[in-house]
Amino acid sequence: MNHFERRDLVTGEAGHGSLYCEGVPLERIAREVGTPTYVYSKATVTRHVRVWLDAWGGLDHQMCFAVKACSNLAILALMAKAGAGFDIVSEGELARVLRAGGRADKVVFSGVGKTRHELLAALEAGVGCINVESADELVMVDEVARTSGRRAPVSLRVNPDVDAKTHPYIATGLMRSKFGIAWAEAPSLYEAARALANVDVIGVDCHIGSQLESEKPFVEALDRVLDLVADLAARGFGIRHIDIGGGLGITYRDETPPSPVEYVNAVRARLEARGMEHLRVLTEPGRVIVGNAGCLLSRVVLTKHNGPTRFVVLDAGMNDLIRPALYQAWHAIEPVAAPRDEVELVDVVGPVCESGDAFAKDRSLPRLVAEDLVILRSAGAYGMVMASNYNSRPRPAEVLVDGDRFHIVRARETLDDLVRGEVIPEV
Ligand code: LLP
Repeated sequence: MNHFERRDLVTGEAGHGSLYCEGVPLERIAREVGTPTYVYSKATVTRHVRVWLDAWGGLDHQMCFAVKACSNLAILALMAKAGAGFDIVSEGELARVLRAGGRADKVVFSGVGKTRHELLAALEAGVGCINVESADELVMVDEVARTSGRRAPVSLRVNPDVDAKTHPYIATGLMRSKFGIAWAEAPSLYEAARALANVDVIGVDCHIGSQLESEKPFVEALDRVLDLVADLAARGFGIRHIDIGGGLGITYRDETPPSPVEYVNAVRARLEARGMEHLRVLTEPGRVIVGNAGCLLSRVVLTKHNGPTRFVVLDAGMNDLIRPALYQAWHAIEPVAAPRDEVELVDVVGPVCESGDAFAKDRSLPRLVAEDLVILRSAGAYGMVMASNYNSRPRPAEVLVDGDRFHIVRARETLDDLVRGEVIPEV
């Protein structure tokens, strides 16, 4: 559920009239902050966190929000306040978590190419676990720990070789993917890790992909992870936790992924069936927490016809929201004002000089004209975090709505921001 709904100003009736985020008309945000702007609903974020945390009732669980999905400090602060930990993939994400008031000991550090410098920063901060993804990284972690006089808590990220049946760019658990440690090599690498002097082996980690629409691949991967845990226990390893990653999908259009409660119950059932419900479970959800908690608010610049096609050109482009261009992702597009009765078949595009800069092709939408406001829904995850300055376009502002108030939680970039750090050498 989310808090972007139509409301009739006169009757107060839901479902008609213009779009609100919680108690704030989106028209007001556009007027006061401009467009394009990412708008997040605090009530939606906190509700999703609460549902996720509550679903695990009775099990020993730690949620580590995947910072890559949405890394604005205000959003991270909401997570920290709710007691969540964080899944990070860079020193930059670690810095964000700490600035947002997150606890380092609730941080897991994932990623296939962590540098020595980043590993040192993580150990100095005291992160809870480093999810090691290769034999070389294991050696690096041990060395960095030794030279800095610290011990490194690690899990190995194993690749369970299951087909997540998602877009190839966001499937990570297949044998040929760059992620994780090949299944067959995991036991010997655990032995190697145990022999290292500065490393504490505390867990088993996996993540098989993103936007998964069925619980089947999750359960398959979990089963393999539990096989490994049993094997390691028999060899005397003290495995304290399993980290089962993120990846639960959301509804963008007509997808019907399991609800968080269904997903957790499937995990719970497997743990109980195998008598392993005492294990601490870490999760790394991103999209399911913030995806439908954010929209991209944009204005129609103009409309035009080329041949038979009517184009609606927005002031947001692929540099602001790249998912449609990169993954052929579908995002709902809706007028902010009460929709006109007339429906048209249109291509909704951005102003960037690339044919791929399209948000929708042949989409039936209520008639849109210049100056209309629209939202692109479900843009809270992998939206702003993937925005760039391509075509020298300042990145959007970000707004967090809280009841009938809103806060600008990231100012729109300025033209000065665009050239910050650039120098013209004397020639
Ligand atoms: N943990 C690890 C190790 C990950 O690599 C990811 C996402 C997550 C957790 C969080 O997954 P989630 O719960 O959000 O599905 N940019 C793409 C998605 C890339 C996902 C990368 N890894 C998109 O816009 O669809």
